[in-house]
Amino acid sequence: MPLAGTRQLMEAARSAGRGVAAFNVITVEHAEAITAGAEAAGTPVILQISENAVAYHNGKVLPIAAASAAIAAEARIEVSLHLDHVEDEQLLHRAADAGFSSVMHDASKLDFADNVAATRSAARWGHDHGLYVEAELGAVGGKGGAHTPGVRTDPDEAARFVTDTEVDALAVAVGSSHAMTERTASLDFDLITEIRDAVPAPLVLHGSSGVADTDLRAAVRSGIVKVNIGTILNVAFTGAVRQALADPSLVDPRKYLGPARADVAAVVERLAATVSCPA
Ligand code: G3H
Ligand code: ZN
Repeated sequence: MPLAGTRQLMEAARSAGRGVAAFNVITVEHAEAITAGAEAAGTPVILQISENAVAYHNGKVLPIAAASAAIAAEARIEVSLHLDHVEDEQLLHRAADAGFSSVMHDASKLDFADNVAATRSAARWGHDHGLYVEAELGAVGGKGGAHTPGVRTDPDEAARFVTDTEVDALAVAVGSSHAMTERTASLDFDLITEIRDAVPAPLVLHGSSGVADTDLRAAVRSGIVKVNIGTILNVAFTGAVRQALADPSLVDPRKYLGPARADVAAVVERLAATVSCPA
């Protein structure tokens, strides 16, 4: 199946009252596992590559994007490719040519006026180049220690932000935090609904690894459409590698990357089904 567009996945999920899971790709094994897991769940999925993952690949976006797109193109479900947490304008300007249909421009470290100005300009560029553009207001805690945990997105400010910037989707701070390895986040479901009612754009939950399955479902019922998930896959991946490497005679990477890929696929299958079936 050819690559899907993030816009079409978001609009279909929103109008059906479902969520769509977006999983972080770091290695080729992640892209394979996410696609296989979503296929097993029978749900659409978004493969997202972050600016940090591009940095890991020596700053080269094309190889990992091309590999992910090729894996997605063989899937029996709809898969879109998203460039995540982009702060670097040069990387933003590579997005369309690298095969992404959407990008999250992250100016959330800036104050409101500067965030609006930077996001508006990124959204204009993105729209001129056929991209679906996500942005963030009220930084989600935990990322690089740069944000204050406990911060929340204000519904009125969110409405103004979306109108002024013309972004297509909005990431909101509602109690989740990036890179949690325990699923103990406490989401503000009333706030999600207030923001959903105030804002025309679909809402995105970041830092979803720290949110329990039941709360992910409740978040989608309250108004979240895109659910961003990364760390919990790496907990599974690294756990499987660690277990395999307990055998000191093991040297073939397929013997530890294979189990890691299988364990990630199992987590993806469960979470993709969870967010796409919120009832
Ligand atoms: O944009 C990516 C996500 O917000 C992933 O967050 O690694 O805490 O699940 P997480
Ligand atoms: Zn995020």
